[in-house]
Amino acid sequence: MAKVMMVASEAAPFAKTGGLADVLGALPAALVRQGMSASVVIPKYKGLHPAGVEKVMTDLPVYINNFRHRVDVWRLRRDGVAFYFVDAPWFFDRDGIYSSYGTDFMDNHLRFAVFSLAALAIARELEQPDILHAHDWQAAMALIYAKCWFWNDPRLEHLKHVFTIHNLGYQGRFGQQALWELGLDGLQFHPEFLEFYGDVNLMKGAIVAADQITTVSPTYAREIQTAEHGFGLDGLLRSRSNKLTGILNGVDYADWNPATDKLLPANYTPEDLEGKAACKRALLEAMGFGAEAHARPLIGVVSRFAEQKGFDLLEPIGDVLMQEDVTVVALGSGEPHQEWIFHDLSTRYHDKFRVWHGFNNGLAHLIEAGSDMFLMPSRYEPCGLNQIYSLKYGTPPVVRATGGLDDTIEESTGFKFGEYSPAALLGALRHVLQCFRDRDAWLERMRLGMAKDFSWDRSAAEYVALYDRLLGR
Ligand code: ADP
Ligand code: GLC
Repeated sequence: MAKVMMVASEAAPFAKTGGLADVLGALPAALVRQGMSASVVIPKYKGLHPAGVEKVMTDLPVYINNFRHRVDVWRLRRDGVAFYFVDAPWFFDRDGIYSSYGTDFMDNHLRFAVFSLAALAIARELEQPDILHAHDWQAAMALIYAKCWFWNDPRLEHLKHVFTIHNLGYQGRFGQQALWELGLDGLQFHPEFLEFYGDVNLMKGAIVAADQITTVSPTYAREIQTAEHGFGLDGLLRSRSNKLTGILNGVDYADWNPATDKLLPANYTPEDLEGKAACKRALLEAMGFGAEAHARPLIGVVSRFAEQKGFDLLEPIGDVLMQEDVTVVALGSGEPHQEWIFHDLSTRYHDKFRVWHGFNNGLAHLIEAGSDMFLMPSRYEPCGLNQIYSLKYGTPPVVRATGGLDDTIEESTGFKFGEYSPAALLGALRHVLQCFRDRDAWLERMRLGMAKDFSWDRSAAEYVALYDRLLGR
């Protein structure tokens, strides 16, 4: 039985800012269902002490520049998966996962270096996996250190290395002094490895160090090899294209299913949609709307407010859109300008547009269920999960045809527009509102979407095949 150890900065339900956590919360259990053995390593963030967790190692040997960092390790078994929590209070007992009050922690490179080294120590001392699978730049150093420091360690040298890019827009790029702070030296600082326009680029290092690179949809795997979506790494990715595959994310229907969702005031199925109307009423009430909003079509948004997500398209067309017979509810937080776009519209059109700033899982579920349609106009989208949740919740998504959005949404289940422009978005939304009036056709669209199956098992089988190829099985 092949053994994989995943390393990442988030895993639901323990720590989450976005879809990365959903993947790490569900994929490992799906691998176990396929007959593999799977473990996950994440940091032990402030207040993270789930019931049943036990300390399994004290004072791991984690050295950088001859300084020994204080690290303990905790473990919890869940759905057949061993979750390890790296307890380094100096680095992780803080308010915020990556940042505080909108500013990234200045020592993020060091925080995640200590975390990555601890993951390698867990691999060596406790798990002895066959495959080390690192996700995004925060775990990139696990592969970099494995290649630079542990290539001849008898307990690690056989390991195969997989790196998954969830978002090429965040590369873990730091000034050259980071090289020394991470205990690395000039030998690694060249354009074929860690050097990137004079800086240290950790994602680049992991792409070079990995035996296999994956990303989270087939279309995004192609897009990142182009100058438009490659964020400067497209050339490197083209040169590695024989090692790069796109495996679409799945959905954990134990968490995201309107028939069983415990976070909803009422449940529903494609056969009996009454509960969905109750969810819409509850959502409108929760957002403070009066009864007059019930008859209007309701557009939902749940998103990190980042440039990636495309809401700057809303800014120039907001006034025109608000002339339509429509209500908008949005949940999210993030970059100041993106937050302002929502804040501005909600202040000027308070009777039709409301935003809830922050992170709120219960409200995210209620928006999926209570909205009539779901908006994701992303500039780029590696996979995207909310549009797939929307299908299941009978809330046809309106998406830009990019990355995983293009791979998961069809004209029969949702709406796609191609050009990244405010006019294209406005055109798409007007078309959607027009279609919404044809109740029978709309119900048919909802039911087709609800019947789609994006469960993890299919994607997990693709990972198993990839691991088997790497292990020569
Ligand atoms: P990304 O990972 O780029 O943020 P995804 O669509 O893959 O986008 O996943 C986002 C995940 O994070 C979904 O589970 C979504 O419900 C959740 N999410 C995003 N913003 C919020 C928020 N403000 N409150 C609660 N959940 C959120
Ligand atoms: C990233 C991407 C998102 C993807 C998620 C999980 O955050 O932005 O598109 O669904 O990772 O892979």
